[in-house]
Amino acid sequence: MRTHALTDGVHWVGAIDWDRRTFDELVPLPDGTSYNAYLVKGGGQTALIDTVDPAFADVLLDRLAALGVTRLDYVISNHAEQDHSGALPAVLARHPEAMVVATVKGQGLLMDLLAIPAERFLPVEDGAVLELGGRTLRFIHFPWVHWPETMLTWLEQDRLLFSGDLFGAHLAVGGLAAPEECVAMEAAKRYYAEIMMPYRNVIRGNLPRVTALPVDTICPSHGPVLRRPQAILDAYQGWVADQPGGRVVIAYASMHDSTRLMVQRLAEALLERGVGVDLFNLATADLGRFAVALVDAGTLVLGSPMVVGGAHPLVANAAYVANLLKPRARFGAIIGSYGWGGKMVAQLTGLVPALKLDWFEPVSAKGRPKSADLEALDRLADAIAAKHAEPANPQRDVGGQEAR
Ligand code: FEO
Repeated sequence: MRTHALTDGVHWVGAIDWDRRTFDELVPLPDGTSYNAYLVKGGGQTALIDTVDPAFADVLLDRLAALGVTRLDYVISNHAEQDHSGALPAVLARHPEAMVVATVKGQGLLMDLLAIPAERFLPVEDGAVLELGGRTLRFIHFPWVHWPETMLTWLEQDRLLFSGDLFGAHLAVGGLAAPEECVAMEAAKRYYAEIMMPYRNVIRGNLPRVTALPVDTICPSHGPVLRRPQAILDAYQGWVADQPGGRVVIAYASMHDSTRLMVQRLAEALLERGVGVDLFNLATADLGRFAVALVDAGTLVLGSPMVVGGAHPLVANAAYVANLLKPRARFGAIIGSYGWGGKMVAQLTGLVPALKLDWFEPVSAKGRPKSADLEALDRLADAIAAKHAEPANPQRDVGGQEAR
């Protein structure tokens, strides 16, 4: 069983899940994932940082055995979610001497989720240190990445930051391989969009605690170990910025082409005005890519036909997902077609209360869009372009249209 040395005495001992294709029955995993765990050997004591998904408990135990680990003093739990804690009962059974180090909230969650008894825990305050003998672990409370109990672990002497889910990516590589940097960054952005974006304000507030550290390598709990930490730190600084992005994200469904014609007219009008567009036909779109596009959105446009008096269910679902993800978009618009009436506009605006959008005038066409409807879409494009051009509003982004 292979392990991977990050430094002399620090090893990646996680598991690679090549075939997993969804997470939480919700998040697409086109490239699988890894559950990263790390062994830190001090002069006197040894700590395991996080475990793995319970299905891979044997893999973790075999990697520890391959390193000759017979005594484990601590298991550090940066995050209590089961893909990192699920193998904890097996590790504690193999190592009855080990204590679990977690935040107080982490202890509570692990006791609730995994029935680990209280006497196995060593709760730690923000800034607490654990001396392993020549190696010092410092615990940095960093809540809401993406559960309330999360913390990071800083290994001072090696300048390694064990960041839990923060800075992670769903890629089936772990500590064993370094993917192309652009591939790693794309996966990290998808991960941010799907998992971290709802908490961007708290991340923005806590990020200086990480950027102040002299980090050589970031070791997240999913995906590649990051040997050039500045790249991901710079990317996160941009993604969590308070200022909205510069692109327009259009998500739509169309039953008889009327809404599709409206969406295409608006998209082309925006492009003519120098505004970048990401377009998603929800009948075939990957919701993960929709989430990624939302990271850079200044305006969200929902396009829907009227279905039994309301929005098409695919559009309602996309609105619900956008509301969950809380992107930094500042403006919204609803366009679509109808046959004899309905409440689609009110329904869709009611599905995104968390976004606090300023709404443009909706554009509705009775049946196939006529010239007056198309002109109304051009005026909507004018209004969006004008808002995006205001200095206090979205960053200018004139990238090309990306049809999904
Ligand atoms: Fe990778 Fe939130 O668990």
